[in-house]
Amino acid sequence: MKKIMFVLCIVLILLLVIWLVMKFNKSAAPDNQYNASELDTQITIYDIDDLEKRAAAVIPQGGFDYIYGGADTEQTMRDNVACFENVDIYPRVLTGVNMPDITTSILGIDISLPVIVAPAAAHGLAHVSAEAGSARGAAASGTIMSVSNYASSTLAEIAAAGNGAPQWFQLYLSKDDEFNRQIIKQAEELGYRAIILTVDAPVGGNRIRDVKNDFKFPLALPNVAQKSGPTKGHGIGKIFAAAQNKLTAYDVMRVKRMTNLPVIVKGIQHPDDAEIAIAAGADAIWVSNHGGRQLDGSFCAFDVLSDVARRVNKRVPIIFDSGIRRGTHIFKAIASGADVVAIGRPVIYGLALGGWRGVVSVFDYLKTDLRRVMTLAGAQTIEDIKHIKLRVPQCDCDKDLHLTEKSL
Ligand SMILES: Cc1cc2nc3c(=O)[nH]c(=O)nc-3n(C[C@H](O)[C@H](O)[C@H](O)COP(=O)(O)O)c2cc1C
Repeated sequence: MKKIMFVLCIVLILLLVIWLVMKFNKSAAPDNQYNASELDTQITIYDIDDLEKRAAAVIPQGGFDYIYGGADTEQTMRDNVACFENVDIYPRVLTGVNMPDITTSILGIDISLPVIVAPAAAHGLAHVSAEAGSARGAAASGTIMSVSNYASSTLAEIAAAGNGAPQWFQLYLSKDDEFNRQIIKQAEELGYRAIILTVDAPVGGNRIRDVKNDFKFPLALPNVAQKSGPTKGHGIGKIFAAAQNKLTAYDVMRVKRMTNLPVIVKGIQHPDDAEIAIAAGADAIWVSNHGGRQLDGSFCAFDVLSDVARRVNKRVPIIFDSGIRRGTHIFKAIASGADVVAIGRPVIYGLALGGWRGVVSVFDYLKTDLRRVMTLAGAQTIEDIKHIKLRVPQCDCDKDLHLTEKSL
């Protein structure tokens, strides 16, 4: 009997030790373990919807929800893609189009297609190579890499990965002007060729997915960390807290005075704001609603593009983003007044599924799709797209918001 009791005690002690070891491991490990993808391969892309589903399978859930998610009900986010269906292309077929030329230029930079990378925080959530991987992919694709203030690679690492290819630096104006000056100077010295001033995020949008996940950045955001100290483990609200909440024409002028680089004002959704930005010295207008991540229940971005374009009236170039997923979207945006378009999430999904090669695959897919659409619609060059008409089928809508027929 004594022997049995002894064996039982030993077994119990062993079980207790195993339980303690497991418990200790669980509480010590996860913060340091964010398993971003390390895939390094070209990818076959059927369309971006399918790419998104495949990306969801390789990006850890909190990270994927942060990347994918929009504000509140996500209505504006969904509409950004859906509202390209509100207008139809009025195709020409007897114009002899053959192997269209999709090259173009923006602010003096030649690019291989009218699509560039939009600035997006924390590419490291998708892939270990982070923005350095995206920059390499953008460079190999012959296009511009826009780099967020909240990137998870340093500005120097991204510049090195781009190896001289064009890059733009995006700034959320900090409350600390010394930091603004210092980071703009750093970007200039590293060869970035424009400053993007984002003006649609005086506070972060209400992203319910992040609230539910209690999402905190599992990785450092080294560029803002220069000012705020370690950012790892902070939620987006805490990071946005360092940014200036009130923005006016005066801030555009201030940034203009801080740099000799062109200043692009990003997040414009109303012709009056475009007017204010141009009067304050903006060198380009970036029409965007931040991919539906800020104000839910606002217009889908494509619906406001032609209004803004008419007011800008070619005084400065227009960049457009929010919802671009295929060649017809690029085509319709250019036919509505954009000079180039930008993509946010699709680049990150490509990065997750194949590293820099995956980013190249995304641009290859868009190049092929755009060439096909141009051939079928009758546009030999990007300039020709601006003269192709779009129509709103059975339109009984407000003419100020939707053109029934347009030729820019
Ligand atoms: C994960 C993520 C992070 C973003 N971070 C920034 C940012 O730091 N600065 C900024 O100006 N825009 C940011 N954006 C908005 C993008 O620049 C762009 O406006 C948007 O992604 C375009 O919509 P799309 O994703 O449908 O292409 C972010 C977008 C995403 C998806």
